[in-house]
Amino acid sequence: MLTSAAYARTHAARFLEELKALLRIPSVSTLPEHKGDVRKAAEWLAAELKRIGMENVRLVETAGHPLVYADWLHAEGRPTALCYGHYDVQPPDPLEEWISPPFVPTERNGNLYARGAVDDKGQMYMHLKALESLFAAHQGRLPVNVRVILEGEEEVGGESIAKFIREHPEQLKADFALVSDTEMFAPELPTLCVGLRGMIYTEIEARGAKTDLHSGMYGGAAPNPFVALAQIIAQLKDKDGRILIPGFYDRVKAPDAEELKAWKRLPFDEEHYRKTEIGSLQLTGESGYSVLERTWARPTLDVHGMPGGFTGAGAKTVIPAKATAKISMRLVPEMTPQEAFSQYKRYVESLTPAGIELDVRLIHAGDPIVVGTENPYIQAATRALKQVWGTEAVFVRSGGSIPVVGDFERHLKVPTVMMGFGLPDDNLHAPNEKFHLANFYRGIESIITFFEELAK
Ligand code: BES
Ligand code: MN
Ligand code: MN
Repeated sequence: MLTSAAYARTHAARFLEELKALLRIPSVSTLPEHKGDVRKAAEWLAAELKRIGMENVRLVETAGHPLVYADWLHAEGRPTALCYGHYDVQPPDPLEEWISPPFVPTERNGNLYARGAVDDKGQMYMHLKALESLFAAHQGRLPVNVRVILEGEEEVGGESIAKFIREHPEQLKADFALVSDTEMFAPELPTLCVGLRGMIYTEIEARGAKTDLHSGMYGGAAPNPFVALAQIIAQLKDKDGRILIPGFYDRVKAPDAEELKAWKRLPFDEEHYRKTEIGSLQLTGESGYSVLERTWARPTLDVHGMPGGFTGAGAKTVIPAKATAKISMRLVPEMTPQEAFSQYKRYVESLTPAGIELDVRLIHAGDPIVVGTENPYIQAATRALKQVWGTEAVFVRSGGSIPVVGDFERHLKVPTVMMGFGLPDDNLHAPNEKFHLANFYRGIESIITFFEELAK
């Protein structure tokens, strides 16, 4: 009888081929034309969960994309893990930047390239393969109780899973949640993420004239909604990156001295980060805060795009009747999405230029979160990572958001262990997303070891 880890090693090549099959399904949650593909990915995962021996496998229908649920609850007296992952992915554009096509998973230099390779199909799949290996080595049983919940809407705000958790907390009853959807701080440095920023994603629509107008005939008399949005956006932040929304920083809770001190010990080279990760002439942001503080523990505001008007090749002399701006803000503990949005909306409306009508809409929202490290689950995770990687794990926060983690804490009252194996250069949400294959395999081993550690 093989150990779980030996089973995983023996079957590594098959695991990879299976992951490639999952990555070929273009489950882009935000694009209506991929609705069928998102469902296909859910069905594929449900079939795989059944095959490996999970029970009560089902799709949970929602107003959006389906959830996938499974459990195995026969490890009496042992803790219950709630394994979470998301099977939806970001749109792959700009397509011409990809070296190999986004939905044709391709191995190069020890990496697997595909949209969703690391965020989050590849990482979610580590959970399934860890469970398969545990079943194989424990005579068809698991060392701990396990529930699995997978969502297909994480990249669009996670509304459906939030509703499911609010309405049926008992169906996800567990002692802790396990999420593999974050990154390692550096290659070879096992990392537990203990904080995420929250967010509000908004859209401002500006309307001027009743229809598009000839800019020669009417320029000088008609309001221009793009100029209006530019004027508004220019007043959202000052030159130092400080957000100008009144009251926005009132609730911001700074990390305590000990956490800040630990961040200073992390191997972070600002110049290397600027050059290789960002690739810009200079880093920007609030003065007086380190890069890690600015990205992990300070709120920020970004503009994502301004759809509308003329964006084709060449020139068109038009004053567009309307314009939109997609703007999001990342929130930190103790800010609330509700309050942040109402402060923002009030402020934006107060900036409305003459002749313009505005609609300020909230598209989705999620809470910021910090999880404590003083629970037996994080402790066991730390021991497991040390065992597999040979290095002490570091605790970090991340600037990204995973809305469901806040729901786990608030509605299920459980801590989340965020054990992720992405690397800083994995190109999440960007062209040429990849997963370092060594991390896929060691991630599986880490999760196996974590669960076996919890059974001790
Ligand atoms: N996995 C990411 C979040 C993440 C990235 C955490 C890197 C830690 C390190 C997740 O899939 C994501 O992209 N979330 C969105 C959430 C939003 C759409 C609500 C985000 O952060 O933009
Ligand atoms: Mn993700
Ligand atoms: Mn993502």
